Amino acid sequence: MKKLLSVFILSFLLLTFLLSKSALAEGILSGSTIFSNSCAACHINGNNVIVANKTLKKEALIKYLKGYEENPLAIIINQVTNGKNAMPAFKSRLTAREITTVAAYVVEQAEKAWSPLE
Ligand code: HEC
Repeated sequence: MKKLLSVFILSFLLLTFLLSKSALAEGILSGSTIFSNSCAACHINGNNVIVANKTLKKEALIKYLKGYEENPLAIIINQVTNGKNAMPAFKSRLTAREITTVAAYVVEQAEKAWSPLE
């Protein structure tokens, strides 16, 4: 009985380990997590601590990023991938999928005016 229980516990632990490992391997991080890890230092709450007027608010994105209104996602992906002036490029730090995910998060937040309520 004791043996059965430990086999059961062991397989449970192994399964949990395998599942979390595959989630990590797949790189399933949410846009908000990627944003907190890679962007918030300079863009906390959609602001810009380095160039104050170049925020991630919709008005600023429309004003400073050519083509934003026509194709918001592609424009943000490009900015994050290649960087611009004092903003670093992320192509060697994030995967293409992470860049797309965080770009979608930025577009979504810009639409919601970076309201702290999810
Ligand atoms: C080291 C600071 C820094 C980090 C980290 C950073 N940025 Fe930036 N970001 C800037 C600066 C500076 C600008 C203004 C660039 C310019 O001169 O046009 C900017 C501009 C932008 C813009 C255009 C805003 C506008 O109004 O023109 C977007 C979109 C953007 N960043 C998204 C991101 C995302 C998404 C991340 C994370 C993956 C990120 N940034 C990480 C510094 C940073």
